[in-house]
Amino acid sequence: MITGNYPNLRLRRSRKNDWSRRLIQENNLSSCDFILPIFLIDGKNTKQAIKTMPDVYRYTIDKLSIIIDKSIKNKIPMVALFPYTNKKVKNDLGTEALNENNLVCKAIQYIKKRYKNEIGIMCDVALDPYTSHGQDGLLKSGYVLNDETIKILINQSLLQAEMGCDVIAPSDMMDGRIGKIRKALDKEGHQMVQILSYAVKYASSFYGPFRDAVGSKGLLKGNKKNYQMDYRNSNEALREVALDIKEGADMVMVKPGMPYLDIIRLVKDNFKIPVFAYQVSGEYSLLSNSIKKGLIDNNAILECLISFKRAGANAIVSYYADRIDTLLK
Ligand code: PBG
Repeated sequence: MITGNYPNLRLRRSRKNDWSRRLIQENNLSSCDFILPIFLIDGKNTKQAIKTMPDVYRYTIDKLSIIIDKSIKNKIPMVALFPYTNKKVKNDLGTEALNENNLVCKAIQYIKKRYKNEIGIMCDVALDPYTSHGQDGLLKSGYVLNDETIKILINQSLLQAEMGCDVIAPSDMMDGRIGKIRKALDKEGHQMVQILSYAVKYASSFYGPFRDAVGSKGLLKGNKKNYQMDYRNSNEALREVALDIKEGADMVMVKPGMPYLDIIRLVKDNFKIPVFAYQVSGEYSLLSNSIKKGLIDNNAILECLISFKRAGANAIVSYYADRIDTLLK
């Protein structure tokens, strides 16, 4: 690998000037690398701040155009929709997930009607925004049931697809759900609806602010360790991805992001498929709060985001996506 010796070789030569640094750069970011998560809330005429996530808001449907217009202008390819569900409609079975008038369904229809195919829509498939216990599936004696949960997830996927969702993103970590959802989508005529599997999702402490944003924080008892992955493991991540590809996933997600750059690289090297990284809420708030406090400067954001590209990610789900144009300037 070593191609020369000092003093013949001086690596600082190519770093001296900006034009030269730009010429030899190995990775770069553009708005096409981003997926913007958007939080939805009931009501009218509201853009509501989220305490745990600086500069991130919940939007009522009639205010969605603020953020979607901006995303399209900035050439963000896709948005991901997440509902803040009113406590009153939550129950143990998460039945609101199957209500065709729920927030997500209304938002998909609104966006598709107004913007057609100018921007992709991705929706989480999981029950946690809708369950009174905050778990992603049905509970029995504190254990999240697999096969019974999948039955509901299939219907949730079909409903979202019927509403016009482009990318179904199961984030629940049940075994076998990708195959079952693919089969059901195909059977119902949704062959072209894509599946982005959260194939590698770790049981993580970095989801805290998100749970606040969707209103499941106070509700969740215990943790999600009996379905989300153990962060000590990496071989297991490859087994998860292998299964999901076999079952029909078009793309896979690794989540959280920064603590798992090794996993992104591992997945990319082992399977030549699109791999997305999720810079999750805890990573976002940690960074944003440190910048606000003046501990680190704004460039830390791009430094973090580039790390995903260097690790091999094709795209990044990030709460910074709506501001990426200003960050890149
Ligand atoms: C729920 C879901 C979570 C996130 C996305 N979908 C949280 C969880 O699993 O508890 C986290 C996203 C973030 O922290 O930004 N299935």
